[in-house]
Amino acid sequence: GDNVLYLAHKHGIDLEGACEASLACSTCHVYVNAEHFDKLPDPAEREDDMLDMAPMLQENSRLGCQII
Ligand code: FES
Repeated sequence: GDNVLYLAHKHGIDLEGACEASLACSTCHVYVNAEHFDKLPDPAEREDDMLDMAPMLQENSRLGCQII
């Protein structure tokens, strides 16, 4: 689908996404611009769990494959 991970790849942006959106990695970790971050629905519990393992976690961190 058209999640941020898919769109990044489509536009040649180097974002990993090792598990192909199955919420089994955190390699699709991205920082979301504050203005956009507030408009996103809250992450599901499984996304939060994986985010906790992402290096350099910030307030505006999300998993790219979960942002639609
Ligand atoms: Fe693995 Fe997003 S690609 S959680």
